[in-house]
Amino acid sequence: MSNPTVVGFSGNITRPSKTRAFVELVTRDIAVRHGLSASTYDVEDVGPSLGTARWARDLDEPAQAILAQVLAADVLVVGSPTYKGSYTGLFKHFFDLIDPAALRGKPILLTATGGGERHALIVEHQLRPLFGFFEAFALPTAVYATDKDFTDGVLRSEAILKRASQAVDEVGLVLANRSAGRIAAE
Ligand SMILES: Cc1cc2nc3c(=O)[nH]c(=O)nc-3n(C[C@H](O)[C@H](O)[C@H](O)COP(=O)(O)O)c2cc1C
Repeated sequence: MSNPTVVGFSGNITRPSKTRAFVELVTRDIAVRHGLSASTYDVEDVGPSLGTARWARDLDEPAQAILAQVLAADVLVVGSPTYKGSYTGLFKHFFDLIDPAALRGKPILLTATGGGERHALIVEHQLRPLFGFFEAFALPTAVYATDKDFTDGVLRSEAILKRASQAVDEVGLVLANRSAGRIAAE
């Protein structure tokens, strides 16, 4: 049986990206602490076919491969920079291409970055409802970081790192519960 996977997906449309760095940090932390294989992608990795795709089948091969990894992940970490009070348009478009039932029950850790505190509730008011639509298992702790929490593109704020660690603990609770359920069913 292959190792369970955690996949990070970031909605940044430019690089270097604080959001991608943050998503990658959280994804790696989950991998290290809970023994999963990790990969992180962003909208840049998906490439130009995303903008013109009307259906998932319109994506080119590399983009379809990323989508397949997102769908197959045991745990997802999503993040987006705040653009005009919400996630980026291409982040939403990526998820618009996904079947409504394809993320049902998947544990998802929600993150976002923004220029300041004003839109900190993007994680609760924008990201959580989106993954609620998918009936995904969005973890209770969602994490928002502002530009001032980063130094040279790396998240340095002790308070935000602590909150991210709390969310990573919750991933452990979900995974332990699921393997207990599997053992009971055997
Ligand atoms: C087009 C655009 C719109 C933005 N809108 C907001 C906003 O509404 N609220 C906010 O807090 N920051 C806003 N920002 C700032 C970014 O969210 C912030 O700098 C973010 O951390 C950038 O992430 P990145 O380094 O991954 O691109 C905006 C930035 C751009 C380029």
